[in-house]
Amino acid sequence: MNVLDTEFVKGFIRMANDGWEQGWHERNGGNLSYRMKEEEVASVKENFEPKEWQPIGTKVPELAGEYFLVTGSGKYFRNVIIKPEDSICIAEIDDKGEQYRIVWGLVNGGRPTSEFPSHLMNHEVKKIATNGKYRVIYHAHTTNIIALTFVLPLDDKVFTRELWEMATECPVVFPDGVGVVPWMVPGGRDIAVATSELMKKYDLAIWAHHGMFAAGEDFDLTFGLMHTAEKSAEILVKMLSMRPDKLQTITPDNFRDLAKDFHVTLPEEFLYEK
Ligand code: 13P
Ligand code: ZN
Repeated sequence: MNVLDTEFVKGFIRMANDGWEQGWHERNGGNLSYRMKEEEVASVKENFEPKEWQPIGTKVPELAGEYFLVTGSGKYFRNVIIKPEDSICIAEIDDKGEQYRIVWGLVNGGRPTSEFPSHLMNHEVKKIATNGKYRVIYHAHTTNIIALTFVLPLDDKVFTRELWEMATECPVVFPDGVGVVPWMVPGGRDIAVATSELMKKYDLAIWAHHGMFAAGEDFDLTFGLMHTAEKSAEILVKMLSMRPDKLQTITPDNFRDLAKDFHVTLPEEFLYEK
């Protein structure tokens, strides 16, 4: 089967384009990866032309033998829909989880995103934590979240609570909260370790002055998660632009009532008195 005719590739391309249309992917900003299912690998394997093995730059033994659909480094999200073979690739992980090789795509050369170490370490954490259910990792340069990292303390509790308060759906969509990584040099192992540590607890990790990572089961849930958090950040930016304080808001007890009716557990650490 032609790679571009498969549902998972169509879903990947649509998500990349949706992110572009949201304005989260200036130039080559952001990256997306998807851990393929066995049957999906089998359905397109006839198209594979393996290139040289390359070091990942970190170790992900739990991902040995897995295949990932991933955006290329330096590639523009706005181009994914018009020239997917040039913008994205399928990469295979070796039997130790230390090397990868491109088996399809990036027809004009290149390599997977510079954030591949972060993507893979997040995938590894989520594969273990969800028994293989989570398959998508998404990094976007979400404008309003980035703006907030200049004015709010870089603290999980503060970001979670402020985002929850801005939209009633937020605690239902991300009941575990959101983690914050202080500013770090992107593209390497250190930021990958810090992010994947937060992914043990959360599905969302903010990179201060840079953007956000989201993890999820499928393209809809992962895009929806990014979208919901960023929209909440937009409301907070608007609110703070009108006045520095709130006249009224959703209270800790309101959140507790919501948790009961919506059958979610909201950790008390985020329901502190201000
Ligand atoms: P890549 O082009 O290597 O994916 O990098 C974009 C980015 O957002 C880095 O954080
Ligand atoms: Zn980035």
